[in-house]
Amino acid sequence: MVSAASADARASTEAIRQRKGGDPIVCLTAYTYPIASLLDPHVDLLLVGDSVAMVLHGHATTLGATMDMMILHGQAVMRGARNACVVVDMPAGSYESSAAEALASARRIFEETGCHAVKLEGGTEVADQIAAIVEAGIPVMGHIGLQPQSVEKDGGYKIKGRTDESVRQLLADADAVEKAGAFSVVIEGTMEPVAAEITRRLSIPTIGIGASAACDGQVLVIDDAIGLTVDRVPKFVKEYAELRSAVSTAAMSYAAEVKARAFPAPEHVFQPKDKT
Ligand code: KIV
Repeated sequence: MVSAASADARASTEAIRQRKGGDPIVCLTAYTYPIASLLDPHVDLLLVGDSVAMVLHGHATTLGATMDMMILHGQAVMRGARNACVVVDMPAGSYESSAAEALASARRIFEETGCHAVKLEGGTEVADQIAAIVEAGIPVMGHIGLQPQSVEKDGGYKIKGRTDESVRQLLADADAVEKAGAFSVVIEGTMEPVAAEITRRLSIPTIGIGASAACDGQVLVIDDAIGLTVDRVPKFVKEYAELRSAVSTAAMSYAAEVKARAFPAPEHVFQPKDKT
């Protein structure tokens, strides 16, 4: 099987930027060492998303993510990533107030994880933050459209690009993120015609999630993609496996065998060697 990422070298942020308009860019989230190791041969990008707060830690929104949480999971993913370019999300509260705050947080994530880039949500309002981080030599992935960190402010997960006003804002956000120096941009939860228009007008790759196949690449939350999500799965998700029932069945069989004293069986047990 041909890997999405180069067999010899990590996919650099520059290599990702140059994929604009070329072969679609493959991205999945990862939060742990074993999952990163399993995904790495098949993806260009591994995103340590702040979705980790919901997916692994059970928070109601991504606002539960902290710097320490992102760094811990970033370090775990870096240990499992051999070829993929690893991007770590900046959590809510770590970058919004000023360019100086954003740079300090990005530096901490970059230095303590060894990741290749950071990602932050927003458009025109975070352009100064993106520019400051990029100028300091840390590559940035933007994130426009539906922004989960703004879910409380927006009153829910609202699809973007339904009104002229929303389209104007999306185009302005896309332009601002590119001009600030981002190497790529996630477009989340956005109407197809707008995602297509943004993809046409930007010279950096767009990575879609709920933003149609018109984007230069796609990203999914790994637990959604492998059917481990226990709550509602969004419309834009395709489950490529259904691991919920595999996990339940394994736990049920284990419990039954422990109760019946069928596990451990003789082959799982250490015995003194027979001396005769
Ligand atoms: O946190 C995350 O997983 C993300 C993706 C949904 C793009 O930002």
